[in-house]
Amino acid sequence: MTRTPGLFEQDMPQQSISDMTREQASARAAELREMISENNRLYYVENAPAISDYDYDMLMNELIAIEKRFPELVTPDSPTMKVGSDLKQKPANEPFTAYAGKDGIPADGTGNKEFEQYPHKYPMLSLGNTYDISEVEAFAERVSRTIGDGFSYSCELKFDGTAICLTYRNGELFRALTRGDGTIGDDVTENVRHISNIPQKLHGNGYPDEFEIRGEIYMPYKAFDRLNAERERDEDPPFANPRNAASGSLKLLDPKTVGHRGLECTLYHILGENLPFKTHNEALSAAASWGLPVSDKRRICRSISEIESYIEYWDKERKFLPFATDGIVIKVNELEYQRILGFTSKFPRWAVAYKFKAEHALTKLLSIDYQVGRTGAVTPVANLEPVQLAGTVVKRASLHNSDQMEMLDIRVGDHVYVEKGGEIIPKITGVELSLRDGSETLPVFPDRCPDCGTPLVRDEGEAKFFCPNTSGCPTQIKGKLVHFTSRKAMNILAGDATMEQLYNLGLAKSPADLYDLTKEDLLRLEAWKDRSAARFLNSLEASKKVTFDHVLYALGIRYVGESTAKELARHFGDIDALMAADRDTLLQVEDIGEVIADSVLAFFSDPHNVEEVARLRKAGLQFAMRQEEGPSSEVLKGMTIVISGTFSISRDEMKKLITSNGGKNSGSLSGKTSYLLAGAKPGPEKMQKAEALGIKVIGEDEFMKMLDPAAGRQEDGTDSPAEENAVQGSLFGDDTEGGPTLFE
Ligand code: IVH
Repeated sequence: MTRTPGLFEQDMPQQSISDMTREQASARAAELREMISENNRLYYVENAPAISDYDYDMLMNELIAIEKRFPELVTPDSPTMKVGSDLKQKPANEPFTAYAGKDGIPADGTGNKEFEQYPHKYPMLSLGNTYDISEVEAFAERVSRTIGDGFSYSCELKFDGTAICLTYRNGELFRALTRGDGTIGDDVTENVRHISNIPQKLHGNGYPDEFEIRGEIYMPYKAFDRLNAERERDEDPPFANPRNAASGSLKLLDPKTVGHRGLECTLYHILGENLPFKTHNEALSAAASWGLPVSDKRRICRSISEIESYIEYWDKERKFLPFATDGIVIKVNELEYQRILGFTSKFPRWAVAYKFKAEHALTKLLSIDYQVGRTGAVTPVANLEPVQLAGTVVKRASLHNSDQMEMLDIRVGDHVYVEKGGEIIPKITGVELSLRDGSETLPVFPDRCPDCGTPLVRDEGEAKFFCPNTSGCPTQIKGKLVHFTSRKAMNILAGDATMEQLYNLGLAKSPADLYDLTKEDLLRLEAWKDRSAARFLNSLEASKKVTFDHVLYALGIRYVGESTAKELARHFGDIDALMAADRDTLLQVEDIGEVIADSVLAFFSDPHNVEEVARLRKAGLQFAMRQEEGPSSEVLKGMTIVISGTFSISRDEMKKLITSNGGKNSGSLSGKTSYLLAGAKPGPEKMQKAEALGIKVIGEDEFMKMLDPAAGRQEDGTDSPAEENAVQGSLFGDDTEGGPTLFE
């Protein structure tokens, strides 16, 4: 099987550590520390990892190896010296003083903005981990060297969730803390009380007066799929994997919503003073008898071969578990031996984690599509025989670019390995050459645009081929129209199908054409009536107020995403200054590098684009920054409104309507919520909660009437705009949002 390098291939060491000079090692260590810290933040705080666990572990291993060879380079704050932290960073000027004393007093005198924090009674450490079975053997040898024979191991699943530490006092759940930075954790007790398999009260009476029990909170695949479906419906970004969903959910500010998320817990480590157990296994069995959720998949092993069989078994069987696991934990079972072996600053010496490589599936490559994006980039996308992978069915996967296809030596008909990394879209990591039977065919990367037939080009240093026919290629034009009208750009109420029709009827060949459309033009669209046309024209009119940064983003300049557009708009103030900027001037803008600078220059050196800007400007779009306007009314002053579902306008626009009329928009319901504004298909979680809290649920019509009480009926006898919107909403159907395609 061939494997491709991971996401961070460009960050792989250029030379082996043994050949490095001290200076080279120092520079590389600094680079690795920065990458690891940033990925720690993304993983633990943002719950949005950018790289796979495997790629992350490789970065960490490289840093460990450098620090081993050059111990003088070890810094006290190196990520090799501490566990990752799930705590939100405090502002530098807010000193953090942990109160390491009695329970009941927050660790932080002022209190964390979201959760109180408390010190851990015993540090909450991580585990040494490896992907290499020989390192498990080395662990076993080290243990034997220290304690001789006559001990056993407890082998357990490594649950892929977020760590939790529960304290039970007199048989009742007293406190739940997250790992935090290992020393201090966030108090999530109220949230944990809503996790159904965590008992508030223990069974029987054989439990110690006070003890801690640690474990993992995770989200089973079923609950994960349900949550992501709901988030997509609500236009919230989906979670990349169940682990992120679990830690994100555990840190929600509303405990009841946590209860609806379907989280579960498995506990695996008891701590306390004078506990009456001789072995870890005995302690966990006792915990189970008190009603605590303990895994029944653990096994006592007495030799390395028994450990290996356990690993082998679960590496296959884990696919059938209803939740994610990322490895096996091997612990010395006898508590006295655990005490003798002790801890390093970061890990126990009595346990190790063997991590599974990211779950992959073998399936057949049926065909390859070459997708042209709105910027002309051609992306090969694999169509696969549907296959189950890490809890979901995968039918398509990215092949990235032609280099990747060559590196894999991939053929249509091949059996290929598909993997999910840190990101949502799976990738093909290898080909099973042994399954080739000669019927496979070599894919030919097109040399012409699959849509308009223009010869493709590949600029120096570019990984992708591009169709250079930016103003004539139908797919690019339609893609540009969709991008231009999308919510984060001009927010025009039309979607992919409308743009497709406008293009096919010859009514729009560029965004500026949209502003020349008449009602008569629009009535030529399938099923469009007066109202839909009027609504579309109104929305075009409204787009003339969209601020310059969004207009700049809407132009679709390659590499100029939302935040770059904001930065450019803020820096230059108007389009004339931006168009007049030379390369050096562009490079002076924060976060603008050579690639973006060159792309901006190329865009404005194309006469088509210059003409397009001139036409859009003439149509009345904003090409200069203006002062922020205050609220347009105060009718919602003092009200907090939560929205759910879809509306006849985009959710972002609805949120703006709330704030621009003096109200406050909030993401979650609480006692302070004034209304739940429910559109089509509202989230059941929110509806149930509103009912439980006695919060009034209002529809879009009612809301619009609140904004403009006089507008119940129009002078001409037609319905109010809100009612009109409701009719329009169904006409537009799913077509109202021109969301991005899979790979754009
Ligand atoms: S024992 C002193 N057992 O994996 C550390 N940890 O990557 C005791 N984890 O920090 C931890 N399943 O959050 C243990 N069966 C298991 C586990 C487990 C998952 C987590 C835990 C740990 C992390 C290390």
